[in-house]
Amino acid sequence: MSAQSLASLFPADESQIPVKYRIEPIHQREYLLNGEMRQWNGKVSDVYSPVCLPEHATAGADGTLQRQLVGSFPVTGPKEALEALEAAVAAYDNGRGEWPQMSVAGRIECMETFVGKMLEQRKLSINLIMWEIGKNLADATKEFDRTVKYIYDTIDTLKNMDRSSSRFRMEEGIIGQIRRSPLGVVLAMGPFNYPLNETYTTLIPAILMGNTILFKTPKHGSLLHYPMLEAFRTSFPKGVVNSLYGRGADVVPPVMQSGKVNVLTLIGSSRVADELQRQHPKLNRLRSIMSLDAKNAAIILPDANLDVAVKECLLGSLSFNGQRCTAIKIIWAHRSVVDEFLKRFSPEVSKLKVGMPWDAGTQITPLPEPTKTQYLADIIADAVANGASVMNEGGAETVASLFKPAVVYPVREGMRLYREEQFGPIVPVVAYDDIEEFIEYLITDDHGMQASIFGTDPDAIARLIDPLVNLVSRVNINAQCQRGPDTFPFTGRKDSAEGTLSVEDALRSFSIRSAVATKDTGENKHILNEIVSQHKSEFLSTNFIF
Ligand code: G3H
Repeated sequence: MSAQSLASLFPADESQIPVKYRIEPIHQREYLLNGEMRQWNGKVSDVYSPVCLPEHATAGADGTLQRQLVGSFPVTGPKEALEALEAAVAAYDNGRGEWPQMSVAGRIECMETFVGKMLEQRKLSINLIMWEIGKNLADATKEFDRTVKYIYDTIDTLKNMDRSSSRFRMEEGIIGQIRRSPLGVVLAMGPFNYPLNETYTTLIPAILMGNTILFKTPKHGSLLHYPMLEAFRTSFPKGVVNSLYGRGADVVPPVMQSGKVNVLTLIGSSRVADELQRQHPKLNRLRSIMSLDAKNAAIILPDANLDVAVKECLLGSLSFNGQRCTAIKIIWAHRSVVDEFLKRFSPEVSKLKVGMPWDAGTQITPLPEPTKTQYLADIIADAVANGASVMNEGGAETVASLFKPAVVYPVREGMRLYREEQFGPIVPVVAYDDIEEFIEYLITDDHGMQASIFGTDPDAIARLIDPLVNLVSRVNINAQCQRGPDTFPFTGRKDSAEGTLSVEDALRSFSIRSAVATKDTGENKHILNEIVSQHKSEFLSTNFIF
């Protein structure tokens, strides 16, 4: 496909965008702080879509492709960030606030109210995911629906956890009740690639466990949170959820330096994570729950079923243009099968449908980060200068924000693609002779999220499983790397994660066990019975949630 025909995939004018996916720019001039939508008259940041249109309308325009304006949002500063922090601190009130003191049943009720309101925004949210980050319609829809399911699953799991902690324990002459308690103020920062889902998979369990929240929207995928602010405002007591808008470098450091953040939850880079953690004056008081960098590797063994390997590697490396932390970011193929694998894989990559997010069946879409196509071109140039080639027809062709996926081979140590997390539509392929080369790669890699093994011999697969499970956190057999199902632990080693996220793990991550205990004497039993039977305490109680 020539550059001209790649350019023709962008709409020539607005009439080529289906009416139901057109969007009127949304100019957000308010943000959520302490239960109020605060008006903002200061600086704003324009949001440009990766979807481009030729600039015909402007006088003197030459038809150059221009990113379309989706709207704008407030760029608040340190002052507003500290106000938001104070609101969250006050709402928590050292654990004595209305929210941390509310019964689990009460918190669940508020969350159910929130989901109902969130569902009213489904259509707009999906459209904004497409416009702001270029995710295709099917995946944007899946992101919204998966998030709603995640919230309902989290509620069910919390009910189960609460039911099992509603009993007293009697051991070694001590009677006690153990329940999970909140941790305090949580600073939550989500990523651009799953701006709704990955933000909410931390935000929702953090709220449900009784914490209060400062919630920083991602740089790309910020506007889509706007319609949800009113839902947060009207579903939870004031100060429980507070938004932070603006440049991370301006608003986050003062919040961290205050020492008042108890939990940092970030889906992003390990570099940013390190910088933020270091700002906290008492690191020992900070809990971090983070999903970070990854360079998930797939290995194709000599006896692999190549049909399966091609299909799964295609999905694994190029869904949402390879912009998933769980994407397969490097493929190791045994030298005896590498040519055959490339012969089958490369045409499939070239066949992926490139287009606009709303076009039916589109798999490759425009990239949201303005400098991304240049970065991708640079790392390919580096590999080519060091002896690799682009193996598929049309691979690496670029126009504006569109980049045709490229299979690059042979990739080896010394090339940037060998170690860097490309987070985009490039598939580096390495040929290996001895399995030890692959294991050594994983040992020396800074990442440790997931790996995929493709093979048919149970002995060979088993020999790899045992070392791999201690180098990464999930080993997939004849399957792509992925986070789901959301009940599975989602974590990583080395620079890939801190803490674990899954429906149940997240509830644990955002809480701590607290116990109330007494010696087993008649007098103490009488006191406990009085408290429980008269419902004098929220914590010390045998109330049961159905
Ligand atoms: O970007 C990381 C996501 O959590 C990956 O989720 O594997 O379901 O696409 P996924």
